[in-house]
Amino acid sequence: MRAVVVAAALGLLGLLAPAAGANHPAPFLQPVPVPATLTASDITITAQEADVPIFTGTPTRMWTYNGTFPGPTIRRPTGRHTRINFHNDLPASVGSLSLHNHGNHSSPESDGQPATFLVPPGGSRTYHYTGLEGGKNERGAMQWYHDHRDGVTARNVWMGLAGLYVIDDPDDPQTLPSGPQDVPLAISDRSFDANNQISYSFQSNGVTGDHALVNGKPQPFLDVADRKYRLRILNASNIRNYQLALSNGATMTQIGTESGLLPAPVSRQSILISPAERVDIVVDFAGLLGQNVVLRNTLASGALGELMQFRINSHEIDTSSVPPTLRPQENIGTPTVTRTFDFSRNGGQWRINGLPFDPNRVDAQPVLGTTERWILRNSGGWDHTIHIHDVDQQLISRNGQPPTPDELTKESWYIGGGQEVEVKLKFTDHVGRYVFHCHVLEHEDDAMMGQFEVVAAPPTPSPGFARPRGATPLRASLVPAYEECTSPNRTHAGPLAFPSCGPPVQASDHLTVGTPDANGQPANSIGSARLAAVAGDPGTTADEADVGLNLSISDVRNKGSLDDYQGTLLAKVTRRITDRYNGSSLAEPGTVADVPLEVAVPCSQTADSTIGGNCSVTTRLDALLPGSVREGDRAIWELGKVEVYDGGPDGNADTAAGNTLFATQGIFVP
Ligand code: C2O
Ligand code: CU
Repeated sequence: MRAVVVAAALGLLGLLAPAAGANHPAPFLQPVPVPATLTASDITITAQEADVPIFTGTPTRMWTYNGTFPGPTIRRPTGRHTRINFHNDLPASVGSLSLHNHGNHSSPESDGQPATFLVPPGGSRTYHYTGLEGGKNERGAMQWYHDHRDGVTARNVWMGLAGLYVIDDPDDPQTLPSGPQDVPLAISDRSFDANNQISYSFQSNGVTGDHALVNGKPQPFLDVADRKYRLRILNASNIRNYQLALSNGATMTQIGTESGLLPAPVSRQSILISPAERVDIVVDFAGLLGQNVVLRNTLASGALGELMQFRINSHEIDTSSVPPTLRPQENIGTPTVTRTFDFSRNGGQWRINGLPFDPNRVDAQPVLGTTERWILRNSGGWDHTIHIHDVDQQLISRNGQPPTPDELTKESWYIGGGQEVEVKLKFTDHVGRYVFHCHVLEHEDDAMMGQFEVVAAPPTPSPGFARPRGATPLRASLVPAYEECTSPNRTHAGPLAFPSCGPPVQASDHLTVGTPDANGQPANSIGSARLAAVAGDPGTTADEADVGLNLSISDVRNKGSLDDYQGTLLAKVTRRITDRYNGSSLAEPGTVADVPLEVAVPCSQTADSTIGGNCSVTTRLDALLPGSVREGDRAIWELGKVEVYDGGPDGNADTAAGNTLFATQGIFVP
């Protein structure tokens, strides 16, 4: 479908002489590795040095996630909260790290930003992924996680910091090849010295290797049966493109992109895959028992041209099938704003719109909930692959032509020299800063990265909640926070309880009084938060069919600097039942009911204590939707606004920065 770009890709690779390599063993000596698979909601990932067996002889010293290359494959059901407890145990000289879950819809704090929220040597950070997007489950997709530290991403990924992350989605057709027939494959190129070691030296145009590795092995083989397989292929290389084809000339059935399943399967003879792109294909080995088929890269020959071998050496009855329709494209509305980004070389650097990356500059401020049109233009002669964080994009046109059916929704766009891609994207759920950049990692590190900041829509005044007279607003920022808990085994209908849902929430994750501005007033920023809960699991007792939320605000004071406050907790609570189960199967996916409610809970606190009184609001689903809440309903509370005013009865203005208010929440099953 993108045949027009092949010449450009060949032209680019012609410019890059592969580094001289040492070991070129005979092909297809080792089986393709299957990385360890982690499926728990709490996952520990440690960046550490390790000796990785790549060739059959001396292992290769690499920087790894949990000791392997690629790192473990994380595999999670959509809609479920996942915590990655990440530790940086690499030598201090490597510097700070930042873990990016590429393709995920993460909050800015959990996105693995290049210059903020870093994890210093010896340090740790917890990344939270909700599995939710726009009030629904995130689409099933194969994502990947890799380091994203500004200026050294290319080095860090080259040295081994990359792994796969699969979101499994029960809404995707269940007849596709699955289990052992669902094979994630990460392709990357590296060069090795005579002792099988790798090293990295930055070249702004891009660094290539002379071996192609599949799941970390050179030219491996896979034993298969004479049936269909689902191959999810990632190009994890720094700059190298691959043009995939099968040696027997067979057709590959493309079912998805990096953003999940296509609306319908597409037959492909040949597929170009550029850095960070993923392609989801079904290959049928029926009728080939006893034969071998090679997955080729037709842009190269030798060790770079024959990527891996399939050995069809067993017979199996194939009950899998590729349905004629897979997953409809979502309607994300009509764009209201157009922006153009030009990716080219200026001032001796790879830049966007002539500007080098600056973590302190914001290039665009899209409004939460709106859809924009972005024109991504490559006015130079080199290939770029443009990746936009936060949300998926839908193709409007490529080089002025309507989209072909193989690339409708994506987040990494191959854009050859002189080409232009026009996409639309809708900003949902999270406010804050995200980056977009060329995923040729050396172009990104050089300076070809920009930043956008999703901003909340201008607030509509809420006359019901007047500010107390004379009070100074202590405006606070409520960072989006997500907690999910389930109570699948609860069997009693006892009194209201507030069980803890997962690890305690850090006070600093919630409300922090800003730094005073020039007038001594705390900075103004009010955000929103969302909490999700599942009313029991389907098939358990009826008393689990109700869930509730308790939110309270307390003041944790720096004694003597914040001695009283008056607060109004404005909880604009939207209870949204998103997925409804019937017995054990999903009966109604998507938003089932929205029940908005504004509650104002005035409170004041004058005692000079470390933890003051609190304002709290409790909502229960069944009180608002009498008789209609069923077990298995998934509910999300959206807290619109929390305001707390300083200036209590003692008349002091307590505007010191650093005072912390915190919100705690409990999600309960009555
Ligand atoms: Cu895969 Cu911003 O990166
Ligand atoms: Cu580039």
